[in-house]
Amino acid sequence: MGTVKISAEEAKELVIQKLISAGLNGDDADKVAEVLVHADLRNVNSHGVLRTEHYMNRLKAGGINPEAKPVFKGTGPVTGIVDGKDGFGHVIGDIAMDHAIQMAQENGVGMVTAVNSSHCGALSYFVQKAADAKLIGIAMSHTDKIVVPFGGKSSFLGTNPIAYGVPSKLKKPFILDMATSNVAFGKILQAREEGKEIPEGWGVDENGRAVTDPNKVVSLSTFGGPKGYGLSVIVDVFSGLLAGAAFGPHINSMYGDLDKKRKLGHYFCAINPSFFTDRDVFLEQMDRMLEELQNAEPAPGFERVYVPGEIEQLHEERNRVEGITIAESVYEFLKSR
Ligand SMILES: NC(=O)c1ccc[n+]([C@@H]2O[C@H](COP(=O)([O-])OP(=O)(O)OC[C@H]3O[C@@H](n4cnc5c(N)ncnc54)[C@H](O)[C@@H]3O)[C@@H](O)[C@H]2O)c1
Repeated sequence: MGTVKISAEEAKELVIQKLISAGLNGDDADKVAEVLVHADLRNVNSHGVLRTEHYMNRLKAGGINPEAKPVFKGTGPVTGIVDGKDGFGHVIGDIAMDHAIQMAQENGVGMVTAVNSSHCGALSYFVQKAADAKLIGIAMSHTDKIVVPFGGKSSFLGTNPIAYGVPSKLKKPFILDMATSNVAFGKILQAREEGKEIPEGWGVDENGRAVTDPNKVVSLSTFGGPKGYGLSVIVDVFSGLLAGAAFGPHINSMYGDLDKKRKLGHYFCAINPSFFTDRDVFLEQMDRMLEELQNAEPAPGFERVYVPGEIEQLHEERNRVEGITIAESVYEFLKSR
């Protein structure tokens, strides 16, 4: 099946209608749709509207509370906890980051953990919000196991993403948003489909041995060997343990047990540069650093140097005008009644 191009507005409306039809309230459906379309606009389609069907299945099976009213509790001048009440992670994350932003504006820093949450989508959405408020944003989320610890035989960790957003004065913010697995499992599936070998370091077989045959992959590897492994554990510490949630192998599965609440944790932080240095100088220096990076001489085989987030931002600019590209099958599903 091919792909179709539709406007971001149409995609958002279709997702809202679908989620409402599965029992979700309108406000939450709007927020979930916004975060999904944000990902498609940036060509991060793995976290875009294609997830709608899975969310509906989980809603219908009872694995997400459609009427959740998350509760924020301030625990100190710069800290707080959101109890998500088993609602959508996108909504819970948004509330948590808004509180972190408010505390950072007032007191320099805001740190909020979220518990009793579910899949929250692309973390760039949340750190972008902080950067739009001219704050540094950090977000982390743990996920269920599919990644081996370095040197280990079997899955223990999730793809545990981490994201940073840093504002600048005139340029688009720096947005580093990355899973700590080397690649998403989707890339293994794609290589299987295309009958292609995968580079060593993407995944391992049932004995924990690195393989290049995508059909033998049962678990993923972290990026950067032991360094990515360590960072993945840190994501579980901040978004799991610090939030009072489970860790690694004890996290409820995303695609199994649809009737079970995920009980996921997340971590959000906002930092106000003006509490540390001259805000304008900081923002100007960010502009300068991004500019100098973009003008760095490319190595042979590279067209130019990009800064993290830039490629996705270029996609977003184009897709806002031309529309987002989604699989025809996804479009058919979203339109079906
Ligand atoms: N919520 C969850 O449970 C969950 C779990 C895993 C992943 N995710 C999301 O999946 C999405 C995709 O993650 P990923 O690790 O596959 O991303 P990726 O590998 O495509 O990109 C990772 C980072 O590298 C940067 N980058 C890529 N190419 C670059 C280049 N040539 N020059 C400079 N920078 C470059 C990107 O801007 C991005 O910040 C993210 O939005 C992440 O939050 C979410």
